[in-house]
Amino acid sequence: MRRPFIAANWKMQKTIGETEAFINAFLPMVKDINDVDILIAPPYTSLETASRLLKGSNVFLAAQNVYLEEKGAFTGEISPDMLIAVGCTHVIIGHSERRQYFGETDETVNKKIKLARNKGLKVILCIGETLEERESGKTFDILDTQLKGSLKDLPLDEITIAYEPVWAIGTGKTASDEQANEAHVHIRKWLAANKEGAEKVRIQYGGSVKPDNVKGLMSQPEIDGALVGGAALQPESFSELVKGARG
Ligand code: 13P
Repeated sequence: MRRPFIAANWKMQKTIGETEAFINAFLPMVKDINDVDILIAPPYTSLETASRLLKGSNVFLAAQNVYLEEKGAFTGEISPDMLIAVGCTHVIIGHSERRQYFGETDETVNKKIKLARNKGLKVILCIGETLEERESGKTFDILDTQLKGSLKDLPLDEITIAYEPVWAIGTGKTASDEQANEAHVHIRKWLAANKEGAEKVRIQYGGSVKPDNVKGLMSQPEIDGALVGGAALQPESFSELVKGARG
């Protein structure tokens, strides 16, 4: 049985003050939950504040991105060492918004995962198809290509996969429980055919997850958690999501 893993990706939202207000309200709501892994990925500017407030709690801290070089003349970028020093244990890599707006490719994703893992960060790798790809019957091919490229020469330990169909992100259109599970089954089959330890890998679903649909999604055998955007911006709804993920 894989332990449920519910993660908040705040994207480009929340100032330092808003981060502080969220965490102060949220921690008491989830303090007794010890059967779900909980994670928050605030923007870079809030990491230090979040790290201080989350210390000693049952909530992990992640960054939403990281650079693929250790250090040097890369204006505006952030290295794994910097994330670790500020208190991150995890990092999200390859989110579809990074692929869509910032030129992220399976190759850069692969380099980022390698460096982040070498440095000791745990990784949430995001994959998923666009609406056009789904409608033209290419979903599984796209997932295979993304997995192959992103995980090239990498073992699976310390990696979580987030399946986020691009058409379901921020649109209110959740994949049905069965649609999501079908993709997760496919992902796990690919992992089992190509890597060691596929059974242990947690696969999160992401895309318009809300307190009222989390239970249905989590009841599917291959859905091990959720990566949540909009519904993770309020402490009440994010705590509801965490509670909804319990068995
Ligand atoms: P929403 O939950 O807002 O659809 O965002 C999902 C997502 O992209 C999480 O990384």
